[in-house]
Amino acid sequence: MRSLQTPTTPRLRTVSAVKTSAEPDRAQASHGWDPRSLAGDPHADVEKAARVHAMFEAIARRYDLNNRLHSFGRDVAWRRLAVRAADIDAASTVLDVACGTGDLAAELNAAGAREVVGVDFSQAMLDLAIAKSARRRGGGTLEYRRADAMSLPFDDGSFDAVTIAFGLRNIADPPRALREFRRVLKPGGRLVVLEFSEPRFAPIRWANRLYTEHIMPVTATIVAADRSGAYRYLPRSVRTFPDPLALSGWISAAGFGEISRQSLTFGVCTIHRAVAG
Ligand SMILES: C[S@@+](CC[C@H](N)C(=O)[O-])C[C@H]1O[C@@H](n2cnc3c(N)ncnc32)[C@H](O)[C@@H]1O
Repeated sequence: MRSLQTPTTPRLRTVSAVKTSAEPDRAQASHGWDPRSLAGDPHADVEKAARVHAMFEAIARRYDLNNRLHSFGRDVAWRRLAVRAADIDAASTVLDVACGTGDLAAELNAAGAREVVGVDFSQAMLDLAIAKSARRRGGGTLEYRRADAMSLPFDDGSFDAVTIAFGLRNIADPPRALREFRRVLKPGGRLVVLEFSEPRFAPIRWANRLYTEHIMPVTATIVAADRSGAYRYLPRSVRTFPDPLALSGWISAAGFGEISRQSLTFGVCTIHRAVAG
């Protein structure tokens, strides 16, 4: 049994959880990314968790607007495809990890899941998710909790599906998080990872890099009035993250099988779907 109560009637439940033990140190969390920290591999930065946390606290307010503008609205369709890959039905209990402002959790709720729990370590992002959940479209429960993806506060075998959109790349130790996802899934449960990737066709990859590395960082930084370096970290973190094939290897090593990949919009995003072994 998992630690959350199973609801008997559909209802909305929103929880702003207390500080988790894994929340990055406040002293470190005051800074985001500077050019020096982005010169190398941001995934190898010992302060990655604190920098990522500071960054999302800083950009939360304009996060949704920037997503819509800079993906030309495609992010909504990408999340809907992720929901489809999760095979939701009226009995499904779903954990959406790194839920941010709750857009994927809201789509899972709208798809008819019995229970959706969104977790994130940024309270600023969660506060927006909680505010938006008043407008949810589905009848099942939708709950938000503050928690660290690498140390989830749920019992083994708690969920039918675990989803994560644009979150895995931001976690300090993604393989550890993937093992946690496997632990909290029931055997046969589905894992769906939606993440940015680099187009394989060279001319499109060149155009995508021009946009994500030179245009978007300027415009998104202005929109967010950001000083955390979030939109310079974004393309750097995509370029230095394992490609879809290597990510499949991580997912396999974490105990998943039946791994499939779906490339979206010329390869700028990839959905990985896998089944807990
Ligand atoms: C790019 S946002 C994605 C938000 C949302 N899933 C979406 O589709 O828009 C990445 C999120 O990952 C969260 N995050 C990063 N590391 C985390 C961790 N270790 N535990 C929980 N959340 C984490 C951040 O706080 C942020 O809200």
